[in-house]
Amino acid sequence: MKVDLSVEIAGIVLENPLIVASGTPTRTAEHIIKCYEAGAAGAVTKTITYAEIHRAQPKPRMHVIYPLNAIKGEYFSFYSIELMSELEPEKWVNEIRKVKEKYPDRLLVASIAGRSLEEWEKLAQIVDEAGADAIELNLSCPHVEKEEFMGKAAAKKTDIIYNIVKTVKKTANIPVIGKLTPQGANPLELAKIMYSAGVDAVVSTARFQGLVLDLNSLEPILWKGFGGYGGPWQLPISLAWTAHIALELPDLTIIGSGGIHSGKDAAAFIAVGAAAFQVCTAVIVKSYSVVKQILEELADWMTEKGYMKIEDFKGKALPKIKSLEELNRKKIYRIEVDENECTGCGICAERCFYGAIIVKKGKPEINYNLCDNCGLCVAICPNRALKIKKAH
Ligand SMILES: Cc1cc2nc3c(=O)[nH]c(=O)nc-3n(C[C@H](O)[C@H](O)[C@H](O)COP(=O)(O)O)c2cc1C
Repeated sequence: MKVDLSVEIAGIVLENPLIVASGTPTRTAEHIIKCYEAGAAGAVTKTITYAEIHRAQPKPRMHVIYPLNAIKGEYFSFYSIELMSELEPEKWVNEIRKVKEKYPDRLLVASIAGRSLEEWEKLAQIVDEAGADAIELNLSCPHVEKEEFMGKAAAKKTDIIYNIVKTVKKTANIPVIGKLTPQGANPLELAKIMYSAGVDAVVSTARFQGLVLDLNSLEPILWKGFGGYGGPWQLPISLAWTAHIALELPDLTIIGSGGIHSGKDAAAFIAVGAAAFQVCTAVIVKSYSVVKQILEELADWMTEKGYMKIEDFKGKALPKIKSLEELNRKKIYRIEVDENECTGCGICAERCFYGAIIVKKGKPEINYNLCDNCGLCVAICPNRALKIKKAH
């Protein structure tokens, strides 16, 4: 039997939980339509703003660290200084209408960023009237340093966040989603403030700010300033925030995001309580075809595990997350060496901080009195020749 991928967020039913996040893949109506044609149930427009300084793009603005890894599906970092949408808010009215005309049943979220409460109100009104299904508040852009009311800069002041959510909620008749920054902020605290102001859902989380230097010139690469920094390595950080938010605010709808590149990545966010998930970098580095790939992987994983619908495993990992007080600190494991796999390289012995491993005649020997069960040798072994097993 085919698994059912449908989900509901803020009263809106989606065919599947995949929403293409605000970014290059959603820069115009045509691009958003490509997201839907690739199979996404929803898409978030590139951020709509009146702030001209955030609309004119630096050129070039994209850089991949370990690009071959990106193509092979391994760890890489994506560094870019793409600002908000080049299109003026008034032009987005037509773009939103075009999308809704062609795909009335797919979710279209308008991402907005104002420089004052008045601008937030105006933008909310424009996109609501144009027919967007929901509004996403860009309180997370890693490039915004000075504007007090938008991007990651706004997240410095809790009263500003509260007032923005309240203003947009009061103005718009559609659900309002707050995007959480992990950069120099506590996404759990931000989620609590947004929740108290009446937000309908949060995105956990956006990406970080980074700095990549050219060591010949000692100048930052690309436009010579700070950039946005993300990639698959970010996933455990975003996942941890998502779990914290789900544990503390069980009634708040969470859209998981930050480093998702596969169906299993997406499953992890749902397992810690996310109702849906967003992807951006994966679409940039692997093209729109990754949407289908992620959804198929998610469905295959669910079939393998016997989950027929998303609800069957949503939040199921949360009760399994232990607190520090509950930790079992006893030594109950034994490290064993698989002699068929071990090449006698000695990396395990060199790295052991407890002096528990010596290599004799090309084979590691473990002194169980000294071994602390820390697991480093198992984790670092390039041949996966060390295994950690229950001692009894
Ligand atoms: C090139 C690029 C452009 C982006 N533009 C926007 C934007 O205009 N508005 C916004 O809210 N987020 C923007 N983002 C952030 C993404 O929406 C997303 O939150 C972030 O990249 C983390 O998700 P990911 O790991 O799936 O990429 C952009 C990201 C990238 C890489």
